[in-house]
Amino acid sequence: MPVEVVDYLRILPGGVYADVTCGLGGHARLIRDQLSPEGCLVARDRDADSLDLARPKLETGAGRLIFDEGPFSTLRESLDRLGIPALDGLLADCGVSMYQLTSAERGFSITRPGPLDMRMSRKQELTAADIVNFSSEREIADIIVRNSEERRWRKLAGAIVRARPIYTTDRLAAVIEKAAAPRARLHPATLVFQALRIAVNQELDELEALMRQIPLCIRPGGRATVITFHSLEDRIVKRAFQELERQGKASILTRHVVRPTDQETDRNPAARSAKLRCMEMK
Ligand SMILES: C[S@@+](CC[C@H](N)C(=O)[O-])C[C@H]1O[C@@H](n2cnc3c(N)ncnc32)[C@H](O)[C@@H]1O
Repeated sequence: MPVEVVDYLRILPGGVYADVTCGLGGHARLIRDQLSPEGCLVARDRDADSLDLARPKLETGAGRLIFDEGPFSTLRESLDRLGIPALDGLLADCGVSMYQLTSAERGFSITRPGPLDMRMSRKQELTAADIVNFSSEREIADIIVRNSEERRWRKLAGAIVRARPIYTTDRLAAVIEKAAAPRARLHPATLVFQALRIAVNQELDELEALMRQIPLCIRPGGRATVITFHSLEDRIVKRAFQELERQGKASILTRHVVRPTDQETDRNPAARSAKLRCMEMK
């Protein structure tokens, strides 16, 4: 949602912004394009490979540009280290990027054979293979229930445990495909892959941590724009924004969630589940 991101952030040319999910720099480029020499963009991601790929795309432009590798939960401490007391705006475009999803060796893809990895940061030790091969059936079932709307969790957790060891994405996809009837539109393994990815990267805990840091990082009058891709994430953002508004610390600017236009979803079907919310700090 490039147009909406720029509109809702209402970028001040001399302001200080953080894109905490820089990925390959698509949105970060748009923010940087609005900045004057007095402005500053912190391009942040927990995936060092993505930041390396974003670098050439972002180098030209006005204002200071700082690349910073790290998860949401260390944002405040990074800003302290960088000498940035407060931001004028923050963007978080949650989840995995197309680059991560389509890079077979990163292990996120159902259709491209690769190691069962799924780490956004390769500095982290825990991989999806560790969870799949060394968790109990009960633990795997819990991960599926908590992190997806997969109703066949019991059957699928049992099938995974019986088929171990499983070290590749194609083998895990095949085990699930054999155990479960196909679903309309979705590959039968889609929700299990989503659940494992969320568990490996502790995505929901990280998003909660980001919500707690927003009031500590954004100055009064500054804005936070967050894009989510499934209801578990959106619920966390919606509740956190409502709570900050209730405490008188922020005003919600998106009374109704903002969805991509039909033209955008025609061009980019992966955007169809995106939801944008924005609030301004008081
Ligand atoms: C949907 S992509 C962002 C794409 C980006 N907006 C663009 O225009 O190219 C999400 C990015 O956020 C990063 N990410 C997800 N959760 C994160 C977290 N908790 N901390 C830091 N980065 C995270 C991922 O590594 C990925 O690169």
